[in-house]
Amino acid sequence: EKGNYRHFMQKEIFEQPIVVAQTLTSYIRQIDRTVALPQLDFDLSGVKRITIVACGTSYYAGMVAKYWFEHFAHVPVDVDVASEFRYRDPVLEPGGLALFVSQSGETADTLAALRHCRAAGQVIAVVVNVPTSSMAREADLVLPTHAGPEIGVASTKAFTCQLAVLAALAARLARVKGRLDADGEADIVRHLLEAPACLTAALDSDEAIASVAQLIAPARDVLYMGRGPDYPLALEGALKLKEISYIHAEGYASGEMKHGPIALVDDQVPIVVIAPSGPLFDKTISNMHEMQARGGRIILVSDAQGIAEAGEGCVATLAMPRVHPLIAPLVYAVPVQLLAYHTACIKGTDVDQPRNLAKSVTVE
Ligand code: F6R
Repeated sequence: EKGNYRHFMQKEIFEQPIVVAQTLTSYIRQIDRTVALPQLDFDLSGVKRITIVACGTSYYAGMVAKYWFEHFAHVPVDVDVASEFRYRDPVLEPGGLALFVSQSGETADTLAALRHCRAAGQVIAVVVNVPTSSMAREADLVLPTHAGPEIGVASTKAFTCQLAVLAALAARLARVKGRLDADGEADIVRHLLEAPACLTAALDSDEAIASVAQLIAPARDVLYMGRGPDYPLALEGALKLKEISYIHAEGYASGEMKHGPIALVDDQVPIVVIAPSGPLFDKTISNMHEMQARGGRIILVSDAQGIAEAGEGCVATLAMPRVHPLIAPLVYAVPVQLLAYHTACIKGTDVDQPRNLAKSVTVE
C-alpha cells in the first residue's frame, strides 16, 4: 500500500498536489470561476460570527482560516482548541456559525463542543475527511475534504485539504456578504487553482529539505516563527517535529519573540523562519535579524526573491515557489512537514506510529 514510499506519512505528503486538486474540484466551478458549496438549508449571508473549534493540526487550519474569514468576508471569528472551548463559557449568540475542523470527525473534545454549540442554537458546519463520521452525521453543513484515508498518525494531506475547503468557504462567504465581486471571487479561485502545481514545486525541494534536516536532528530545541496566516504554520512545524522526531520545538509569532522567547536564542537552537514574499515579509525579516544578532542559527524558508533579499547570514535556506499570499499556508506546509519527516528518519523514530499517540483521539 505504501508503493515506493518508506512510510505512509511520506506517501501522504507527496499525495498533496493530487488530493488538494481533488478537493478544489468539488468546491470550484471551472467555467465561471466561482465557488460552489453543497446545498445549504440556512442563509449564509446572515452569519454574524464564526466560532471555529478543533484540536491539534486541525486547529491550526482553523487559525489560518480566521485570517481569511476576517480579511475577505469581514466576519468576526473566534478560534479555540476544543478541550478549552468546552470548559469556558463561550458567548454564542443567534446568527452564529459554529465550524468544526477534524480529519477523523470523531475527536471526542471536538464532538462534545459541536453538541454544546448545537444546544446553544448555532448553525453547525464541519470540515471532515471521513464523511460517515459522527461529526458529519450531526452537522447542518458537511464540507468534506477529499484527502482519502490518512494512515500516518501525523496529519499532513488532511491539513492542506482543510485549508483548501476553508479558503473556498471564505470566498463564498465574502461573496454572499457583498464584500467580494465576481472578479474578486474569480481571482481567489484562480489563486486556489494554482495551489496543486505550487505544491508539486515545493515537493521538488525534498532533497534540499532532507539535507537541512541534518542541521535539525542534533538539536535539543528548535524554534519556528512566522507571521499572519503563516504563524499557524510555525505552530504546525513545531508540532510535526515534536510528535515524530521527539525533539522539543515551539512555534511563535515572529513579533512575539522579543517579548520573552528571544532569551532562548543561542547558537545551539536552530530557528526555522517561514517568510514567503508578501505584505508581511519585511516585518518577519526584521524579527529574523533580531535573532541573528543574538547568534541564532536561521533556516530561512522563503522564495527565490525572499532568499536573495534576506538569505545572507542564514545557516540554510529553502526556496519555495513564489506564490500568492492566499495559498502560502498550503505550499509552506510542505517544507515543515518534510523537515519533520526527514529529521525523524535521521533519528530512526517510528514515523507512522509515534510513541504515545493515536490517530483518532476518542477520549476527552
Ligand atoms: C497532528 C495530529 C493531531 C490531530 C488532532 C485532531 O499531526 O494529527 O494533532 O490533528 O488529534 O484530529 P482530528 O483532525 O481527527 O480531529
